[in-house]
Amino acid sequence: MRHLIFITFLLLSTTSFADESKGEKLFKEYCWGCHHQTSMAFGPSFKEIANKRNEGQMISQIIDPANTYKQLGFKRNAMPPFNDLSMDEVKALVEFIKSYKDK
Ligand code: HEC
Repeated sequence: MRHLIFITFLLLSTTSFADESKGEKLFKEYCWGCHHQTSMAFGPSFKEIANKRNEGQMISQIIDPANTYKQLGFKRNAMPPFNDLSMDEVKALVEFIKSYKDK
């Protein structure tokens, strides 16, 4: 019986962790200071990015903005590189950005 209670507790706690997607969590941790979901901040909004870029462009800007900003049409690079994130984390961020694309 005690075993069952423990398992139920475990299941409940993992579901509540999953409520906030991995991408959203990373976004709040690393990007929120400069990018907001739908309004322009220091950098463009995720909605704007989602509507005009493909995955490859987003991934290279996140990992290596110094070599990508020009191709994307920016005059200056003011975004730091996030090259210590894992590919999984970068993809989770890209998925989160894409969720703002107009349907
Ligand atoms: C210090 C501020 C800053 C932070 C932090 C930041 N960005 Fe940026 N970002 C910018 C700026 C400014 C630009 C415009 C291009 C440039 O400066 O290279 C930009 C551009 C981008 C672009 C391309 C925009 C376009 O029009 O296609 C993407 C994608 C992007 N950022 C994603 C992210 C993600 C994801 C994070 C978090 C991991 C992040 N940024 C964190 C400032 C920031």
